[in-house]
Amino acid sequence: MRAVVCRELGPLDNVVVEQRDEPVAGPGQVVVSVRAAGVNFVDGLICQGRYQMRPPAPYVPGGEIAGEVASLGDGVTGVQVGDRVMAMTGFGAFAEQVVVSAGSLEPVPDALSFAQAAAFIQSYSTAWFTLARRAALSEGEWVLVLGAGGGIGLAAVDVALALGANVIAAASSEEKLGSARALGVECTIVYEAEDLKARARELSGGGVDVVVDPVGGRHSEPALRATRPFGRFCVVGFASGPIASVPLNQVLLNNRTVVGVDWGAWAFSDQRGNHELLAELLDMVRAGRIHPAVPAERSLEDAASVMTGLLERSVKGKVVLVP
Ligand SMILES: NC(=O)c1ccc[n+]([C@@H]2O[C@H](COP(=O)([O-])OP(=O)(O)OC[C@H]3O[C@@H](n4cnc5c(N)ncnc54)[C@H](OP(=O)(O)O)[C@@H]3O)[C@@H](O)[C@H]2O)c1
Repeated sequence: MRAVVCRELGPLDNVVVEQRDEPVAGPGQVVVSVRAAGVNFVDGLICQGRYQMRPPAPYVPGGEIAGEVASLGDGVTGVQVGDRVMAMTGFGAFAEQVVVSAGSLEPVPDALSFAQAAAFIQSYSTAWFTLARRAALSEGEWVLVLGAGGGIGLAAVDVALALGANVIAAASSEEKLGSARALGVECTIVYEAEDLKARARELSGGGVDVVVDPVGGRHSEPALRATRPFGRFCVVGFASGPIASVPLNQVLLNNRTVVGVDWGAWAFSDQRGNHELLAELLDMVRAGRIHPAVPAERSLEDAASVMTGLLERSVKGKVVLVP
């Protein structure tokens, strides 16, 4: 089969397409024919050796897929060959086939294409974990989402709307705000051109209740300062590189709370809880309450250029690789 291989951690020109042996399902596993594999910001960091997780190279990158079950290992029940499934795979997703533990498969709802399903789990689980669990968002509250044209940002916009919040979508350009507008968001901020703190306070009538920050860097402090009394600032990621240092008096003032969000570690440590979280999300999809955008589709050969685009900020929305 064809697979994307990272030959060595480092520059992304070490990432190539190679022929590999077809995988075989062990006990409790299934082989999935990959119809789409979601590309996430973190995939490029891992290939570059800049992430806390450093797989031994050569390895096949990619952490989430949607596809059809191709074969079953011993002892697998409740899944049949041909089923439409989605899963987080750890590694190995950027390939024609991947082996997955049967327990980690979820059925793809009819409402989602393979491409939408492959781009769903990481972004939407993080957004749902942030807003519904960590920030305990209530209907009618104001939410400011940074990086609202990116994977987690756009999912957070969709989830916040579904939870009945008033949403302010913020991104670096008008173009990157297009998908949030398409979801119905009217309040937007282009943070490279406008005063983020002042505009967020103005649009929300005094300050926002919750900030979702997957970007980090120089926009974090003005976003924190834009929260109203008892506001919650959710630290989700640092896509811009620098980890912001904020003056702690800004947390004391107005009784604010800084909320750490580590969906990945939590999902690993509480697999049953994570399964329940994903089930809640998929129910929302089936009920038509959340609306995952249709990702751009690229070939396996484009893996390195898509990961580069994510790391260099040029990608809008989600991208999947279609083997
Ligand atoms: N906490 C968790 O559990 C969790 C889970 C998954 C991922 N993450 C982390 O969350 C972050 C965002 O992930 P994502 O999937 O949303 O990524 P993404 O799709 O690439 O979006 C990130 C956004 O960050 C903004 N950005 C600002 N400066 C940037 C720069 N120098 N380079 C790249 N992007 C820049 C971009 O929006 P603008 O151009 O509009 O500013 C971009 O759309 C990553 O750091 C990821 O590792 C956290």
